Amino acid sequence: AKCLGLGGVARRFKKGQKLAMVTAYDFPSSRLAREAGVELILVGDSLGNCRLGLPDTVGVTMEDMLRATSSVRRGVEARPGASVASPKPVVVGDMPFGSYLLLPDALRNAAAFRLAGAEMVKMEGGRHLAPFIEALTRAGIAVMGHIGLEPQKALLQGGLRLQGTTARSAAEIIRDAEELVKAGAVAIVIECVPVEVASAVQAAIPGVPVIGIGAGGEVAGQVLVCDDLLGVHGRPPSFVKMFADVGRVSANAYARYVAEVRTGEFPGEAHGRPMKPEELEKLKE
Ligand code: KIV
Ligand code: NA
Repeated sequence: AKCLGLGGVARRFKKGQKLAMVTAYDFPSSRLAREAGVELILVGDSLGNCRLGLPDTVGVTMEDMLRATSSVRRGVEARPGASVASPKPVVVGDMPFGSYLLLPDALRNAAAFRLAGAEMVKMEGGRHLAPFIEALTRAGIAVMGHIGLEPQKALLQGGLRLQGTTARSAAEIIRDAEELVKAGAVAIVIECVPVEVASAVQAAIPGVPVIGIGAGGEVAGQVLVCDDLLGVHGRPPSFVKMFADVGRVSANAYARYVAEVRTGEFPGEAHGRPMKPEELEKLKE
């Protein structure tokens, strides 16, 4: 199957087609996202909360992220079902906390993401990242910005809460977006801001897709954490739509399994293999 690539994403954006991005952390979640036809898969540092049981994203390491990225790449490359005609999505690696404090770190770690199978990296932050984005772009690594709520900076942003609520802070966010694009960012995630702020950001950078989460629909695309849209952790934040209740389905399945093991209902006849009669005779002798 063909790769959508950055060019394919840009073409769809220019045509006014909405872009769908979702997180994935491993082979099966990546494969499902790819088969659903998403344009972009984000190997998010939400891996920490969703899959590692960490309280926030700050404890996620490059090692965690690279292992996840290579697994996601294998999911994208796996032969899709016969009915799947869509091209392979772009894989975005989320630079974890502390991996881009200094320019040399940023370059080395972004290159590691490329080698692990990501075609783009994402970094949280405003205009102070402009020199980093320029350097990465020069090195051949495409960068996605991430503004608004920056979970890696939750302590400084007053927790995981709506950003850009004042005219002044909204203007700062818009400026940040412009500077990131000037530095070479090819897309921007905007998280948890009022609808009007996200819309104004997209209007300020009309040539670059803005991908929103908790930011309304007046942007080029949307991103969700796969576990949230699946309902793996129960009720997600209010801006997330739960498209399934996988948590409840899973809990029921586990509970039935345990109950059936205890009663002996499982395994049934179909789940065991009989010995050949002649061998059984010999065994009895
Ligand atoms: O790590 C993540 O899941 C993210 C998205 C919420 C954009 O950064
Ligand atoms: Na993230």
